[in-house]
Amino acid sequence: MPNENSYEVALKKSDAIRADLDVNPQNYTMLTGDRPTGRLHLGHYFGTLKGRVELQNKGCHTNVLIADYQVITDRDTTDQIQDNVYNMVMDYLACGIDPDKTMIYAHSAVPAANQLMLPFLSLVSEAELLRNPTVKAEQEASGHELTGLLLTYPVHQACDILFCKGNVVPVGRDQLPHIELTRTIARRFNNRFCKNCDPVFPEVDALLSDVPLLSGLDGRKMSKSYGNAINISMTAEETAKRIKKSQTDSERMITFDPENRPGVSGLLSTAAICTGRSEIEIAEEIGMGGSGQLKKYVTEAVNNYFEPIRERRHRFENDLDYVKDVLAEGNRRANEIAKATLAEVAEAMGMVY
Ligand code: TRP
Repeated sequence: MPNENSYEVALKKSDAIRADLDVNPQNYTMLTGDRPTGRLHLGHYFGTLKGRVELQNKGCHTNVLIADYQVITDRDTTDQIQDNVYNMVMDYLACGIDPDKTMIYAHSAVPAANQLMLPFLSLVSEAELLRNPTVKAEQEASGHELTGLLLTYPVHQACDILFCKGNVVPVGRDQLPHIELTRTIARRFNNRFCKNCDPVFPEVDALLSDVPLLSGLDGRKMSKSYGNAINISMTAEETAKRIKKSQTDSERMITFDPENRPGVSGLLSTAAICTGRSEIEIAEEIGMGGSGQLKKYVTEAVNNYFEPIRERRHRFENDLDYVKDVLAEGNRRANEIAKATLAEVAEAMGMVY
């Protein structure tokens, strides 16, 4: 029998959920989030934001978390955090997340959700925490020591998902170990403490993305630290400049060849996703036009696609009070939900005095 936690099984389950989401959206509660370490970029937009908006508009319960506590898993400063958080709300709103339909909240503003960490920590072993491959990779990439928070943040992530009884979590493959741990924690809690009551927590599944990851302008993983990303919040001019500076190669003829021509291919993929055309079609059209023409094409494609989004964003940039209100209201609702869940947890554990 295939392992319940294998990628293939997760993918099958995810496809089944995707089909059922169209029929029974009200049965699903989605929770996902981002670390507020900087501005969101095109990789975030096409990889997850667009999908969140689609789920929101299908009518399932949607929750978006600004994971401010996760910022300090592997760095020792919270400089810029307030600015990053407000800008993240602006990115969300500009991209179509509707605060009347989707709850937007920040980790640190919901004490009752964080308190779930205590019983949850008792349900996992040291060995389980230490063998999480994603945590290991993040620790190595950061060059930082393994803090207690980095080691246990997957448990904290289980609190994020379970406080609102989330049952679908849109994630990339790298986050699958965390979903497995969340499922384990929910089951162990229900088995251990809900012998005389209904289970408190639902079964959680990953919703795996069906769009390939958009690479950066140089063909490497899109990342702020590589300078190969275009942020949603950039102006048309900043976008043009970033594309102009991106590295191509000396061959004039434009072809799509991600392995041997990462720069040219990264540009083609960016244009393809913004226009809905294929990379090969665009490459053939530009042909001997060379990288100058390719860059012009990419710039127009990105700027046209993001023009309405950036226009909306400007309105929010000029109305910080509104942005703060959206977050305050999301935090208020999240606290209500978290308190109700924590009360169920206390009841199941007999901690009612
Ligand atoms: N770990 C996610 C990231 O790095 C953010 C996140 C925090 C999250 N809590 C979550 C994602 C719960 C899904 C579910 O972007």
